[in-house]
Amino acid sequence: MFLHTKRLILRNFAEEDIDVFVVYRNEPEVAKFQSWNIPYTRAQAEKYTASIKDMHAPKQGDWLQIAIVLKDFNELIGDIGCFVKPEDARQATIGFTLASKYWRMGYASEAVLCWLGYLFDDLDMHRVTADCDVENTASFRLLEKIGFRREAHFVEGYPVHGGYASEYHYGLLQREWRAMTGRGNAC
Ligand SMILES: CC(C)(COP(=O)(O)OP(=O)(O)OC[C@H]1O[C@@H](n2cnc3c(N)ncnc32)[C@H](O)[C@@H]1OP(=O)(O)O)[C@@H](O)C(=O)NCCC(=O)NCCS
Repeated sequence: MFLHTKRLILRNFAEEDIDVFVVYRNEPEVAKFQSWNIPYTRAQAEKYTASIKDMHAPKQGDWLQIAIVLKDFNELIGDIGCFVKPEDARQATIGFTLASKYWRMGYASEAVLCWLGYLFDDLDMHRVTADCDVENTASFRLLEKIGFRREAHFVEGYPVHGGYASEYHYGLLQREWRAMTGRGNAC
């Protein structure tokens, strides 16, 4: 996988990314609304990245997670992924994470727009969704800024970190993406 934007490269994970991946997965503010628990070990990271490093396109019923890297410094700053519905190859859910030192610099928006271009324009997805904790303001503001529509509020429906969290569910259709961008792939 290889996509790029003005400042970023989106590519498969490599061995050299593991140290940085472990560091940001262990940041409490990064893990707060995510499904993994901390401490997140190097062994977990090695196993996980080995399982995804050779995936060259999303597969139905699987998460594909790829690295977000700064173009100028070849430095890993986060990851972005998608899960394609097992029952429909034209519907996917996305997820994204950045190391905290890169927050509020527009990197997540840039990566998500590129990822949406890939999903809608290259893979001809019909619909892309995203779920986030109702307290994850950064995540839902980003989704709304990009143009996602809030479609549902699930109250305490998501088991996480020993309790139940409430979630917002967002959606965006291909025709809405095309009307918004007025062009093809944003990468
Ligand atoms: C969610 C996340 C990826 C946002 O990354 P980011 O690079 O800071 O986002 P951007 O800089 O592209 O911000 C885009 C918009 O999101 C909103 N936003 C981002 N962080 C915000 C915050 N802390 N508070 C309020 N709004 C915020 C703003 O509207 C912002 O636009 P603006 O800067 O023009 O106001 C990042 O906070 C993160 O990795 N969090 C931890 C992992 C996580 O929770 N991922 C989402 C799981 S659903």
